[in-house]
Amino acid sequence: MARKTIIAGNWKMNLLPLQGEELALGLKEGLVNKPNLEVVIIPQTALIPLAQDWVMDCGMQLGAQNCSNNLSGAYTGENSPELLRAFGCTYCLVGHSERREIFNESNEFIGQKAQTLISMNITPIVCVGESLEERESNKHIDKILGQIQAVFDQVDQEGWSKMVFAYEPIWAIGTGKTASKEQANEIHQIIRQHIIKIAGESAGKSASILYGGSAKPGNAKELLNQSDIDGLLVGGASLKVEDFSKIIEAF
Ligand code: 13P
Repeated sequence: MARKTIIAGNWKMNLLPLQGEELALGLKEGLVNKPNLEVVIIPQTALIPLAQDWVMDCGMQLGAQNCSNNLSGAYTGENSPELLRAFGCTYCLVGHSERREIFNESNEFIGQKAQTLISMNITPIVCVGESLEERESNKHIDKILGQIQAVFDQVDQEGWSKMVFAYEPIWAIGTGKTASKEQANEIHQIIRQHIIKIAGESAGKSASILYGGSAKPGNAKELLNQSDIDGLLVGGASLKVEDFSKIIEAF
């Protein structure tokens, strides 16, 4: 199965309704003639019911930034994957480093969220990545593979081929410092080999692995041209129509 190319904009905790609408509608024009590309916008949860209209009839997909590991119940403040699905979300980030670091989310908890999302037919975008300290002490590969393994430990076998992965080195997020195309592609290959080892040839070869961390118009093309980079997860540059449109054009 051919791997899907995905360019996703993680808006993080930014944009009010009118700003979000202007951005989403501004992106629509650039989507013409990109039938082999999946463009996803990932707004704050409270914008999702509105964003359902913004993505209508243009092929753009809607994603969420986080969700509960349960479908319903006494979990005050959480967002149910069932509700996200009802509002048209087809993707949801899990394990973004900001969730792992600021909100102390564990590997196990992140794996449970992935499983719950799959049960609702929402594709989890599982984020993994190392800190600068871990890279400099050569612990980055163990860290990343541990994060991947923990998700497979929580997800039923039928779900193994239903996940998307995003390699986001923490030192590259919001810093303007992008991993080089060689550095990124090397880690993507290691991740793919590990998925093949755990889940088999077909799941590994068909898994889309995105790169995130200061992706921008100036480096999008060279990153997308790498053998194992199947798309981009964009933060800051996804908040401006011109920048995100240029990134889309790079495909
Ligand atoms: P930046 O593109 O702002 O570095 O953010 C990357 C990111 O965290 C996307 O999830």
